[in-house]
Amino acid sequence: MTENDVTRAVIVTGGGTGIGRATARAFAARGDGVLVVGRTESTLVETAKDHDTIRVLAADITDPAVPEHVVRTAIREFGRVDVLVNNAAALGYRPLADLDRGTADRQLGTNLVAPVFLTQSALGALEESRGTVVNISSAGALGLRTWPNNSLYGAAKAALDFLTRTWAVELAPRGIRVVGLAPGVVDTRSGPRMGLTDEQYEGFLAQISEQAPAGRVGTPEEIAWWVTQLVSPEARYVTGAVLPVDGGLSLT
Ligand SMILES: NC(=O)c1ccc[n+]([C@@H]2O[C@H](COP(=O)([O-])OP(=O)(O)OC[C@H]3O[C@@H](n4cnc5c(N)ncnc54)[C@H](OP(=O)(O)O)[C@@H]3O)[C@@H](O)[C@H]2O)c1
Repeated sequence: MTENDVTRAVIVTGGGTGIGRATARAFAARGDGVLVVGRTESTLVETAKDHDTIRVLAADITDPAVPEHVVRTAIREFGRVDVLVNNAAALGYRPLADLDRGTADRQLGTNLVAPVFLTQSALGALEESRGTVVNISSAGALGLRTWPNNSLYGAAKAALDFLTRTWAVELAPRGIRVVGLAPGVVDTRSGPRMGLTDEQYEGFLAQISEQAPAGRVGTPEEIAWWVTQLVSPEARYVTGAVLPVDGGLSLT
């Protein structure tokens, strides 16, 4: 495939499941080339099924060699990079009293350090395309909110928002926009990855549906649509903003 065959070239980390899968497919439906990255090849292949502009790369983004490899692969496949979606994350509730080094390294490595070096590796290509970085944050970490028993995850997302604002200023002279998107609770069947049983996860979704002004949790497709909007040419006056897409949850 060459750059002439696709409208734009998009990298989506964590593209094998949930919001990342929906985002990859939303871009593909618009004729964009998409490189989905994650550790599990089978879920990436499932994302790409029936979408001929989606390519897969099984890789761990916390491996220091991987960011360069991801960008090189996208350029080999599509000849360019227009959009980097830093979506992959390590979930997992853990009270401070139970935090261990391994969990801390994994959460910060995946949710904060990897986006830093992926974005750094993509700078040259994004400058050439006057491209956009989208950092997937969380409405739970917006403003002065707190997140008992999930402090490290929330801290990584709050730090990611700081990177979004700061990079928007730092990279504007290079023609690169940086935006954030903060989903509320989205049903991605992620209960087990958060350390919850199926029953606890259903209870959590029901409780959020009560609390959110929208009266329900979100769908991955509702998040994906906003990612595609934020990188559209019509959105070019937006940079450094973190958009809550949360059914009003963060206002409660
Ligand atoms: N779902 C929600 O309610 C919600 C709410 C707010 C924010 N968010 C954010 O939205 C994003 C997507 O969430 P989701 O619910 O779709 O979660 P998810 O289904 O658990 O997706 C996370 C993805 O990241 C990948 N990943 C994790 N560690 C990785 C690593 N080291 N290297 C490469 N890929 C890795 C996983 O694939 P592998 O395991 O195969 O590597 C998985 O596909 C995350 O940033 C999350 O924090 C979600």
